[in-house]
Amino acid sequence: MWIGSVDAIAVVAVRGSDLVGFALLNRDELALCYVAPEALYQGVGKGLLRAIESLALSRGVSALRLDSTRTARDFYARNGFSVSGPVQVWAGLEGAPMVKHLTAEPSPLPAGCR
Ligand SMILES: CC(C)(COP(=O)(O)OP(=O)(O)OC[C@H]1O[C@@H](n2cnc3c(N)ncnc32)[C@H](O)[C@@H]1OP(=O)(O)O)[C@@H](O)C(=O)NCCC(=O)NCCS
Repeated sequence: MWIGSVDAIAVVAVRGSDLVGFALLNRDELALCYVAPEALYQGVGKGLLRAIESLALSRGVSALRLDSTRTARDFYARNGFSVSGPVQVWAGLEGAPMVKHLTAEPSPLPAGCR
């Protein structure tokens, strides 16, 4: 449903012919952000996040929301997000609501994102 939403916009990270990352902006929410295991901890996630923030700004979003998995919470905190409410459990998975107030001017998409 998220991917098919008319309001959603996807960003992918590619390395050669391989898709190594995928993120989805749905209105003011970062709905999905996933990096392939072989590409973890090499800056792909940060690049996806920068691209999503840039797209969100260009669409007039001033506060970008997300529900973070437990494992990704530190990643988002390091990238400017703050916990904005109590942890929710959905389908057995914990999600911590987080928000980042966007103030910078939109920047070009990082290399490798389109
Ligand atoms: C969260 C996620 C998107 C981050 O992607 P990533 O490409 O690994 O992120 P980056 O490489 O940009 O940044 C990772 C950081 O961890 C650091 N790191 C390096 N090795 C590490 C290790 N072995 N373990 C943990 N962190 C490590 C990196 O140096 C970097 O630090 P920095 O932010 O201070 O620069 C990715 O881990 C992921 O797909 N997780 C599983 C799915 C998930 O939970 N998604 C979130 C849904 S809300």
